[in-house]
Amino acid sequence: MRTAILELLKHNAGQYISGEEISRNLNVSRTAVWKHIRALKQSGYDIEAHSRLGYALRQNTDRLLPAEIRAQLTSAVLGQEIHYFCEVDSTNNEAKKLAANGCPEGTIVVAETQVTGRGRLARSWFSPFGKGIWLSVVLRPPFGPMDAAKCTLMAAVGVNRAINAVTGVGCGIKWPNDILWNNRKVVGILTEMSAELDVINYVVIGMGINVSIEHFPSELAPIAASLSVATGRSISRVKLLAAILDELENVYVLVKKSGFAPVLAAWRKESITLGRQVDVRGFDRSFSGVAIDIDADGALLVKTPQGVERVLAGDVSI
Ligand code: BTN
Repeated sequence: MRTAILELLKHNAGQYISGEEISRNLNVSRTAVWKHIRALKQSGYDIEAHSRLGYALRQNTDRLLPAEIRAQLTSAVLGQEIHYFCEVDSTNNEAKKLAANGCPEGTIVVAETQVTGRGRLARSWFSPFGKGIWLSVVLRPPFGPMDAAKCTLMAAVGVNRAINAVTGVGCGIKWPNDILWNNRKVVGILTEMSAELDVINYVVIGMGINVSIEHFPSELAPIAASLSVATGRSISRVKLLAAILDELENVYVLVKKSGFAPVLAAWRKESITLGRQVDVRGFDRSFSGVAIDIDADGALLVKTPQGVERVLAGDVSI
């Protein structure tokens, strides 16, 4: 019923429609109409109520509500099942629970805010309410665990393309999967998986996209940025989320059809790491050199005075 009322309001967007007309049209009591309108307002829809004229939708919500996402979605598999939370500990945690319980491939978890959002290398991820896209996607890729790291590179290519298509802002990928604008991080990606020796049960790709955060905590302020600051205008999170799912699906379909080579080639083109002097901080060693390429496994190849080092994990600063 709520969706039907919303459809009526959207159909007459900006114009009043009386409570009586809604109740007659949808065969529901005026009190029920009023309760649904109140709930819609709580979901972020800007609805004006006038005692004589009725209700008018002034502005659509920018909340990442499943109905709003579905209205923009063009992907065939990603986002067919959507789990939405106003607040959650971490969308990756929720997605992992769903995946372990057998949810279909393409299931997504989105939240307005995360209480304990997680980043790579056991860092926390700043996830303020309504200011970003805190998203996890469940994939069940038909390849072995050795290929999981490349899923992260694949996700970075998909997200970078979606950002470019929706905002026009030119970002670059820092190895392995940060998306930077002006040397500041606008997107982080955390891939987690469950696997047997030779088969992946599921991969959860968690993406944190800073859309409209204006004030970061002091430790992040010099190194983080938001897309709205990069573009100087407001960005529809719903539209961007739908584009991310679409582009991610495109690259995923390509990988399943042709292997990782085309996506690694795209990653190289969109990279801001290759050709640069980098400092590598690994688990057991640190060194500096020039990032010259990524290999077929997605490892970063760094040329040092001692020779070419292969980096599969760790922190790389440019
Ligand atoms: C990083 O750059 O360190 C990765 C950050 C990943 C953050 C996202 S936000 C959605 C998902 N849920 C989490 O707890 N983390 C990822």
